[in-house]
Amino acid sequence: MTPVRLGDVAAAPVARLATGIGELDRVLGGGLVPGSLVLLGGSPGIGKSTIVTSALGNLAAAGRSVLYVSGEESAEQVRLRAERLGPGALAVPIVAETDLDAVVATVEAERPAVCVVDSVQVLHAAELTGAPGSVGQVREVAGRLMRVAKASGTAVVLVGHVTKEGALAGPRALEHLVDCVLSFEGERERTYRTLRALKNRFGSTNEAGVFEMREEGLVEVEDASARFVAEASRRAPGSAILCAMEGSRPLLVEVQALVAPTDVVPPRRMANGIDRNRLALVLAVLARHGGVALGSADVFVSLAGGVRVDEPAADLAIAIAIASAARGIPLGGDRPLAAFGELGLTGELRHVTHPDRRLAEAAKFGLDRTLHPGPDLPDLATALRRALTRPEVPQAV
Ligand code: TYD
Ligand code: MG
Repeated sequence: MTPVRLGDVAAAPVARLATGIGELDRVLGGGLVPGSLVLLGGSPGIGKSTIVTSALGNLAAAGRSVLYVSGEESAEQVRLRAERLGPGALAVPIVAETDLDAVVATVEAERPAVCVVDSVQVLHAAELTGAPGSVGQVREVAGRLMRVAKASGTAVVLVGHVTKEGALAGPRALEHLVDCVLSFEGERERTYRTLRALKNRFGSTNEAGVFEMREEGLVEVEDASARFVAEASRRAPGSAILCAMEGSRPLLVEVQALVAPTDVVPPRRMANGIDRNRLALVLAVLARHGGVALGSADVFVSLAGGVRVDEPAADLAIAIAIASAARGIPLGGDRPLAAFGELGLTGELRHVTHPDRRLAEAAKFGLDRTLHPGPDLPDLATALRRALTRPEVPQAV
């Protein structure tokens, strides 16, 4: 066998199949790649079936052959959903089937450009003894579908349920196998959802899309920052705007904190939209280097709208929101205070990625008061002094 220089390997440019959902296409890296296997994970009720139905509807309207394999819901149930999503969705052909052999035979016969299997956990291979959804079954289902995908050039989207604890029970076992892992996140009760790529062989994993669940299905939110800033409670203590990055896109989102005295030992710490360990770290640094010790108080921190942010750059905004809540001093004047920056364990502020894009986004929405790491803001103590100085509030006459 003669090794070939990578540059000499023949590689035809891949034609992507645009789903017509801009945010989804962006996260995929430009659309679905023919013959690829995509895993779409998310908790029940988050909107997985909704987004795949819309995507298939758009593809069908663009003249692509598509197929919806529904193992969880009857064809009738899927139709009822499709009615809300518009005429394109009603053109999608469906089979309600849970037997893997039957599904594979249908895909081989139909050779659609795109096939959705909803969900991977309910299909079962007759020759295996395990229950549907078990690791063995899920692996077999994905493996067989992958071979069909490669052979027929069909892009296959596997929908997979993830439990709240993140146990993508079966689906986790598939991550190495599939080309792309998309995760649909957010709280079911909240309006906003984010879609991000955890793995992508055909694009960056930095992209994320923001959606809103409405009466007529999932709607892309392109102006998420504008919404979140408008909704921010600017005069109440405990609110700050975080300049976050969702992939390569800046996103302004409100951080809210509530600090309440308690006798409960240990006091409660609740984090919505941020990692609990991150909150613990911010609280420790606040106590040790910011003079804000909350050992006998419950602390609740929440990102508005059900957004999730997993970057250390959120530290500073979380810290000032908590300090503001603890001291009862609002951070905003007539405009909310915006912040970003990572907290070091010694109380220093550390630089984060894309400071220019974050600042530009804040400026775009008129947030002229920002706190971020720089020569004039070396540490948390300085930031707190700056944040908690009462902004000049015009006196009422
Ligand atoms: P669904 O896509 O069925 O979630 P999943 O497949 O991830 O379990 O839909 C989730 C929720 O969204 C469902 O409870 C109803 C709601 N919904 C709307 O609010 N508007 C709509 O147009 C649709 C189709 C669903
Ligand atoms: Mg579903």
